[in-house]
Amino acid sequence: DTTEAQAEFDARIAAEGRIEPRDWMPEAYRKTLIRQIGQHAHSEIIGMQPEGNWITRAPSLKRKSILMAKVQDEAGHGLYLYSAAETLGIDRDTMTEQLIEGTARYSSIFNYPTPTWADMGAIGWLVDGAAICNQVPLCRASYGPYARAMVRICKEESFHQRQGFEILYELSHGTEAQKAMAQDAVNRWWWPSLMMFGPPDADSPNSAQSMAWKIKRFSNDELRQRFVDMTVPQSEVLGLTLPDPDLKWNDERGHYDFGEIDWTEFKEVLKGRGPCNHLRIANRKAAHEGGAWVREAATAYAVKQSRRAVD
Ligand code: ACO
Repeated sequence: DTTEAQAEFDARIAAEGRIEPRDWMPEAYRKTLIRQIGQHAHSEIIGMQPEGNWITRAPSLKRKSILMAKVQDEAGHGLYLYSAAETLGIDRDTMTEQLIEGTARYSSIFNYPTPTWADMGAIGWLVDGAAICNQVPLCRASYGPYARAMVRICKEESFHQRQGFEILYELSHGTEAQKAMAQDAVNRWWWPSLMMFGPPDADSPNSAQSMAWKIKRFSNDELRQRFVDMTVPQSEVLGLTLPDPDLKWNDERGHYDFGEIDWTEFKEVLKGRGPCNHLRIANRKAAHEGGAWVREAATAYAVKQSRRAVD
């Protein structure tokens, strides 16, 4: 009965155990996982676009092959995550429909444009750096398939972060114009990267329950602080500045203090009014429609194979 199943679930969570697809789970737990994993999968897939924008214009063959590999990794992350969400009883077609119709969320960060090559560096360093801070604790999430997908994703994200740092390092040690391009990209990506962690704890409706269920292990503000503390020393190595006059070490707290985030901008982006929201969804829709023949052919092939197996 439900009371007994609930007690078993609660005990498993309390003992740091894992919940697996066939286990009983509260409906709200299932729903919140579908929401978070689905949004996460969509973010990986939409996140291919800002960088895909530079594949044909990468400054060398070496840079081009690295960038292509990275964008392919993101497609792979999306697929692991859609598969993890499918274990909860939603199918990928439904999730894709929701994305294309604009009813599913994806990370705010991917609604910003990538006008210069230095944006590839800033995305790798800051956006993937923020993603790592947020996702390493998710390797310990209570839902097994999500936690296991995260282990592999985090390994690949670490490489992505290093390649972004290296692009910026090369630019910041290059000509004056290259250094200025790197600085401009960092100036544009810094604040949106801080917004990736979500609203402040006091305005985060899902955090308390997700932390009680051990899906989230740290709050939005805790992870944001961890990211700032990790990134400031790296900016010094790069020889670039971060665009926040209030950013300074606080000896008493043992952390960097930083300025106020523009939450109005965050809310606008979430409402679909960011700089690239329309473009991102339009591109995703066109790619989905353009790929219809591939899905049809794959389905026809699978039907033929299964008939052969029966004969
Ligand atoms: N962009 C878009 N939506 C966001 C963002 C963001 N940066 N931050 C929060 N939100 C949304 C939440 O999804 C939630 O909306 P919903 O209730 O309609 O689903 C709402 O704002 C309130 O936020 P929270 O209550 O704090 O939501 P939650 O507990 O889910 O925390 C967080 C948000 C931290 C993003 C969490 O979902 C998470 O850790 N997700 C997994 C990581 C992820 O999705 N990363 C994607 C970008 S990284 C990458 O792809 C490279």
